[in-house]
Amino acid sequence: MTDEQMLAAEITPEPLYLARRRFLKWGAAAASMLATGVAYRRLNRVGAMSVDTDRIADYVPAAESSLKSGYRVDETKTPIEQVANYNNFYEFTTDKEAVSSVAKNFVSTPWQLTVDGMVHKPGTFDVRELMADFRLEERIYRMRCVEAWSMVIPWIGFPLAKLIERVEPMSTARFVAFESLNDPERMPGQRKAVLDWPYVEGLRLDEAMHPLTILALGLYGRILPPQNGAPIRLVVPWKYGFKGIKSIVRISVVAAQPPTTWNRQAPREYGFFANVNPEVPHPRWSQATEQRLGEAGRRATLPFNGYADQVAHLYQDLDLHVNF
Ligand code: MTE
Repeated sequence: MTDEQMLAAEITPEPLYLARRRFLKWGAAAASMLATGVAYRRLNRVGAMSVDTDRIADYVPAAESSLKSGYRVDETKTPIEQVANYNNFYEFTTDKEAVSSVAKNFVSTPWQLTVDGMVHKPGTFDVRELMADFRLEERIYRMRCVEAWSMVIPWIGFPLAKLIERVEPMSTARFVAFESLNDPERMPGQRKAVLDWPYVEGLRLDEAMHPLTILALGLYGRILPPQNGAPIRLVVPWKYGFKGIKSIVRISVVAAQPPTTWNRQAPREYGFFANVNPEVPHPRWSQATEQRLGEAGRRATLPFNGYADQVAHLYQDLDLHVNF
């Protein structure tokens, strides 16, 4: 093993390793409350980053009115300070409370997004042009991380289906592969082999075309801040948060199931589908409950993160205990 690989082996499971240590000491519920309590104190410290990215409506004059539509959950939104200061974005750092400050000078304009593979009209699109081309909507979605914490976030974006329709997928296409930026100069976390860069993700084509699946360009009415995946990231609200790949540079329509970062990293722990499922525990902790940031107690985790009515039919023929 090289030094880099040893470092990766040590660092990669760190959140998981820490979680296990806490489990042994205090039990699952206490561990999670402790973690959230620590996060809380840190979030309220002086120095937590405020979000000062531009308002989307300043770029897209029509946005204000079109934003109103869309799907929304009727639950308390997680304050923007928490959404923007408690992040997983290993390209910058594995420290959730530090991503916002490490990423603060990340420049994401201009940004080209290539859409290719089994499509009749591949193309490379400027993200700001996409923003103007597609009708943007606000979607207030739950987000459930595989680490058993959750938030409610008002995203701004458009259905991924619109972009895929535009490039005209071939009839034999079955999956969609996503790739994040790979640029260690601009993303210091990539100078270590913490993960196998670039971060990659994938969806089945029918999941990608589902109306709940969006590409987000903003949150809370503002351009996406770097730490949340600027300038464009995936949001699939019925799946664990790691499916929501950030800072996307390439989307490829493909025939076979593509590799995904966390599945490659720990195949027994993270599947390709990663549908939120309280009945399938992570090998090292339960997924039955979650810590909603900003709440005192734990709440029950819902099948498909509360979106079962809309998406359960996609998996009728799958045993989700095997295809987790
Ligand atoms: N995308 C990239 N490129 N790199 C990452 O480390 N982390 C994932 C996902 N997308 C990650 C990523 C994980 S584990 C989660 S929970 C969500 O982003 C967190 O999104 P948030 O920081 O906006 O809440």
